[in-house]
Amino acid sequence: MSGNTFGKIFAVTNWGESHGKALGSVIDGCPPGIELSEKDIQVELDRRKPGQSKVSTARNESDNVEILSGVFEGKTTGTPISIIIRNKDQKSKDYSEISKIYRPGHADYTYQMKYGIRDYKGGGRSSARTTVGTVAAGAIAKKVLKEKAGIEIISYVEQIKDIVAEIDFNVVTPADVEKNIVRCPDEKTAKKMENLITETQKQGDSVGGTVVCVIKNVPVGLGEPVFDKLSSDLARAMININAAKGFELGRGFRVATLYGSEMNDCFFLEDGKISTESNNSGGMLGGISNGMNIHFRVPFKPTPTIHKEMKTINIKGEEIKFTAKGRHDPCVIPRAVPIVDAFAAIVTLDHYLRYLIYKR
Ligand SMILES: Cc1cc2nc3c(=O)[nH]c(=O)nc-3n(C[C@H](O)[C@H](O)[C@H](O)COP(=O)(O)O)c2cc1C
Repeated sequence: MSGNTFGKIFAVTNWGESHGKALGSVIDGCPPGIELSEKDIQVELDRRKPGQSKVSTARNESDNVEILSGVFEGKTTGTPISIIIRNKDQKSKDYSEISKIYRPGHADYTYQMKYGIRDYKGGGRSSARTTVGTVAAGAIAKKVLKEKAGIEIISYVEQIKDIVAEIDFNVVTPADVEKNIVRCPDEKTAKKMENLITETQKQGDSVGGTVVCVIKNVPVGLGEPVFDKLSSDLARAMININAAKGFELGRGFRVATLYGSEMNDCFFLEDGKISTESNNSGGMLGGISNGMNIHFRVPFKPTPTIHKEMKTINIKGEEIKFTAKGRHDPCVIPRAVPIVDAFAAIVTLDHYLRYLIYKR
């Protein structure tokens, strides 16, 4: 009912507000016996944290993770894992202006109307800071998937505004993604993207873009039709990420322009194993994984809080002009990459654990 828990077997409950004392998550259903340390989680939090480069916000949050439960002598016990990230950078004065107005493009208005009260500091529960707990849970899911099933998840930036990189998702490695601050594996295009982001920031504006995610080595059979298809759960997870505005599986919206003869992925035998010649369907048929690489694209809108004057309404109901102060991401996409990874890992592990029931 309240919308803060995701997953059926590997179930993640996210809690905390942007500028509260702490944020975190409770993970139920993690298999026992997995070696797990705070370091394993910290790596992913460092990829998500603010202040990591000149293309992200200057807010400096160290995001140190603590595991409170569910791990004994360095191994998961199968009991709930509780994760906490304590807040240090709680400069409420940067955000006091938000208490009196509804920022265009942000969730101040809808939260106020729905709940009749809102924690306006840093956007409270509507802030992307809440993803810190989910990224921590995703780091655990990623590790379990790799160790138990050899499944690997790689996301990267494909597009910033109208700059698009031509990248073969089948060959991108995690190291390729981390080679530059934009997280676009094509160096030349990444530089152009970086310049666009920094130029846009100087103008007080923001830009959007897309993240591509590929999930490799998924066996045939993950997904629970008709309501819990792997495709629909991934779509739901992705559209849950702050500022995400869509989900394109495989060829995505471009399927509308194809003939059936162009779209169908023809089966063939590769060393006795069933494979498909193309992968337009994104690694799924009928919402069930087909053994090919799963791949999808998520578009993110430009950061709503910008340093340009905009028309809006204040809490008294008056029309006003508003120019945001404070420190905001000029482009959320490079920091969205580990968040996409995390949500993809949580969904995939949850479905992998459900799939194992059929294999008993
Ligand atoms: C990694 C990341 C960082 C973000 N940083 C900011 C920010 O600094 N300022 C801001 O106004 N919005 C930021 N956002 C976007 C808002 O959280 C989001 O637009 C807002 O919650 C409204 O939700 P909606 O855009 O999904 O409708 C960020 C989103 C992500 C994914």
